[in-house]
Amino acid sequence: METIKRTRIVDLLKGDAYGTTVNVKGWVRTRRGSKQVSFIALNDGSTINNVQIVVNGDNFDEEYMKPITTGASLSVNGILVKSQGKGQSVEIQATEIQIYGTADPATYPLQKKGHSMEFLREIAHLRPRTNTFGAIFRIRHNMAYAIHKFFHEKGFFYFHTPLITASDCEGAGQMFQVTTMNLYNLKKDEKGSIIYDDDFFGKQASLTVSGQLEGELAATALGQIYTFGPTFRAENSNTPRHLAEFWMIEPEMAFYDIADNMDLAEEFIKYCVQWALDNCKDDLQFLNDMFDKGLITRLQDVIKESFVRLPYTEGIKILEEAVANGHKFEFPVYWGVDLAAEHERFLVEDHFKRPVILTDYPKEIKAFYMKQNEDGKTVRAMDVLFPKIGEIIGGSEREADYDKLLNRINELKIPMKDMWWYLDTRRFGTVPHSGFGLGFERLLLFVTGMTNIRDVIPFPRTPKNADF
Ligand code: 4AD
Ligand code: MG
Repeated sequence: METIKRTRIVDLLKGDAYGTTVNVKGWVRTRRGSKQVSFIALNDGSTINNVQIVVNGDNFDEEYMKPITTGASLSVNGILVKSQGKGQSVEIQATEIQIYGTADPATYPLQKKGHSMEFLREIAHLRPRTNTFGAIFRIRHNMAYAIHKFFHEKGFFYFHTPLITASDCEGAGQMFQVTTMNLYNLKKDEKGSIIYDDDFFGKQASLTVSGQLEGELAATALGQIYTFGPTFRAENSNTPRHLAEFWMIEPEMAFYDIADNMDLAEEFIKYCVQWALDNCKDDLQFLNDMFDKGLITRLQDVIKESFVRLPYTEGIKILEEAVANGHKFEFPVYWGVDLAAEHERFLVEDHFKRPVILTDYPKEIKAFYMKQNEDGKTVRAMDVLFPKIGEIIGGSEREADYDKLLNRINELKIPMKDMWWYLDTRRFGTVPHSGFGLGFERLLLFVTGMTNIRDVIPFPRTPKNADF
């Protein structure tokens, strides 16, 4: 086969160099036609769009062509011509075809269109080859890129916080332990407690639930930083919005109060959504047409509207009123309750019909590090609530006062020996500061319109599932 420089299909479809000989490589999506002429839809992952390969039966041996079925991988040389069919601008008249690998139709699982999302989760190693997951993972890349671009252009520094840690940032005790100890033969003291002295780190260590605490160290040095990395939570919640391993973006800013924090969060999300609209058009259009006819409009609306900013106490009043007027929630509503997704979505989708930033939550349901309000009951927390998702961002202004922070740590009986380094930010040159965490997969749920978080991460980790 003649060696011709490969053109990616995304570039090929933009061009119009009719008459030139080109090379494309990819996987067969479909093949149809007759002995005389057959049509191969080839996809190389660079775009949702396939290029059509026209194969003239006179030039190719029928036996050779036989294994070119859905899933087979090919290298094709051919002449670029203006397309006869509708839906595409160019096609390739094949002159040479090399088969890299076949995919036996009897065993290749991706035969027909319209496999269920549940089935595709069971073959997560192959699902990126479908149109849907190709679109999702291209959007996922684009969102990651947009996030780095946004912060870089604003003068934030990407700061790498550790994945292995000895402290529980959110204080929820939902951590995966990291150990090299022999679990069949644990050393214990006379009270039966495990002795960690000989463990790899010489103490109990876990996978991080958040990079925030170390992020605060960085923000009180570099001014404004962000983290973007994997986060682990051993919460046993089998919901469409929870993963045991997810990615989180956590900006942290010195000299920001909660209003600055809200401004940044709103600008940030809008930037990401705008980026998707501008740079992922074909993929979004596909998802819009296939799954959710309201997707693109919803994305456009979020950019247009300013987010509602509302204290938790006011939010509870609205929810209580709804209950009084006959609205049924599965979970009860009262001041002090940790809102469920149904409550959050009621505020966003039914009441305000746009995103809501809820602030000043009861301190009992929020983490120890949040700035305490004058009232002694609430803290300067902010959750950004989104249509279809509920909480997409959680953040706060931080308690900058050493004594207040220490009191709260003691009240909650957080082991002090693990926190000395964090307290140093308040002992030495403490400053008002704020930050938040955006769940990357929650953002992707919103942007792609998918309804299950397992479908926006390549290999989901959830209770009882760590396959692939
Ligand atoms: O609200 P969270 O727990 O806040 C923090 O971790 C803070 N340390 C952030 C900060 O202020 N720097 O989590 C932040 C976001 C949530 O709003 C949600 O979008 C996402 O992380 N999230 C999850 N996403 C997927 N699966 C889970 N189990 C998640 N838990 C939280
Ligand atoms: Mg939260």
